[in-house]
Amino acid sequence: MFDLILKNGTIVTSRETFPADIGIKDGKIAAIATDLTDDKAETVDVSGKLVLPGAIDAHTHLAMPFGGTISADGYLAGTRAAACGGVTTVFDYPLQRKGNTILQTIEPKKAAFAEEACVDFAFHCCITDLNDGAILDEMEEAVAEGITSFKCFFVYKKEGMMVDDKTFARILIRGKEVGAMINLHAENPDLIDLYIEQFKAEGKTSAWYHYLSRPEFVEAEADKRAIHWATHLDAPLYIVHMADKEGLEAAIAARREGHEIYIETCPQYLEFTSDVYKRDDGRNFVCSPPMKGQESLEALWRAIESGGIDTVATDHCPFQSYEKDWGKDDFTKIPNGCMGIENLYPYMLSAANTGRISFGKAVELCAENPAKIFGCTEKGTLAIGKDADIVVYDPEKDFTVTACGMHSDVDYTIWEGKTFHGYPVRTYSRGKLVYRDGEFVGTPGWGKFVKRAPRK
Ligand code: URP
Ligand code: ZN
Ligand code: ZN
Repeated sequence: MFDLILKNGTIVTSRETFPADIGIKDGKIAAIATDLTDDKAETVDVSGKLVLPGAIDAHTHLAMPFGGTISADGYLAGTRAAACGGVTTVFDYPLQRKGNTILQTIEPKKAAFAEEACVDFAFHCCITDLNDGAILDEMEEAVAEGITSFKCFFVYKKEGMMVDDKTFARILIRGKEVGAMINLHAENPDLIDLYIEQFKAEGKTSAWYHYLSRPEFVEAEADKRAIHWATHLDAPLYIVHMADKEGLEAAIAARREGHEIYIETCPQYLEFTSDVYKRDDGRNFVCSPPMKGQESLEALWRAIESGGIDTVATDHCPFQSYEKDWGKDDFTKIPNGCMGIENLYPYMLSAANTGRISFGKAVELCAENPAKIFGCTEKGTLAIGKDADIVVYDPEKDFTVTACGMHSDVDYTIWEGKTFHGYPVRTYSRGKLVYRDGEFVGTPGWGKFVKRAPRK
């Protein structure tokens, strides 16, 4: 009847927590009930443990060419680390090279992930160039192929990644027509350039000036501009890695008025403030947008608690410490990006275990909402018929993060020394055990492309 039974655990969804067994057959959840038995099934006693849906990390950049190098976790290492942190689906961000089509951007990534990925994967396609409008036509085809979200950058002008307002508006309108979500990195590039020029002329080159060149209001302007377009064009918008209070409040106000604005934040914005850039190793924390002040951090937590934030994802885009060192004497030479794929779920679950949020809220932010927002119909919760993407969590196990205890290829972590109360002890990807008690036990190439449903 079953291949696997997880017995005597406590099941957690966003809405309920209850004792039950889970029966798994052919990679799917086949039963949730008490007293499941099957002599032929592998039976694992999970008494005293929580049984949770695998997390969906809706924001990663694996093997991404960026900042003069390539992000240090490839498809294998990044998804291996994901599995060991309870993440069973990653959403990567392939970047369109100017002139290429959407499918030319996605297909090579899809093939590379299929060879190496240890957990399931999906893609948001970053659009940098409309190719005289051909991309707008192709968006419909991409949606039919299960690529139902696209990303725009308001920044990275010199890198050729930025889109202007006209392009952004056209993508928003087309996204709505074809049932796609449009994701946005919101910061104001001209203000950033202005500050960078000024600080360089003044010889102010430490990592602290990375923050001062991209302070709160530089992000807020872009958040508000995007919200303005999305509300007036009546199109859905997903703002990635929200880090500032003013922009957050504008987004929440637009939602209250009934607009479809979704908000993602990341663990690094919930844990660190801009003070990290004053440290000797401040460059290791350089990402964009940068960590902000205490007021923004507190506003983000309040929004988590009150339902103002929809998802927590990582923006996992790590670089080795020698690459971060390129910017020791010039913050503009630091490759932008931090790590977190293995820390996301333990961090949010530890926040639940220590009483800051509920376990249901952690599950909603890290699994259920990303599945719903991005059309992963088979994933995101524990229910009959869904993929058996499951994390077994020991609420009594304490864990201290060290770079060498992580499963990525990066030689340091911004999470070094952080302690979590409670930790995942098993991760199942479609019923297959991929992580157990600190060890990766999965198989590269196991991960499958998640073909997503369009928005209605
Ligand atoms: O600093 C970051 N976040 N690097 C990755 C690219 C992006 O902006 O998301
Ligand atoms: Zn970004
Ligand atoms: Zn990103």
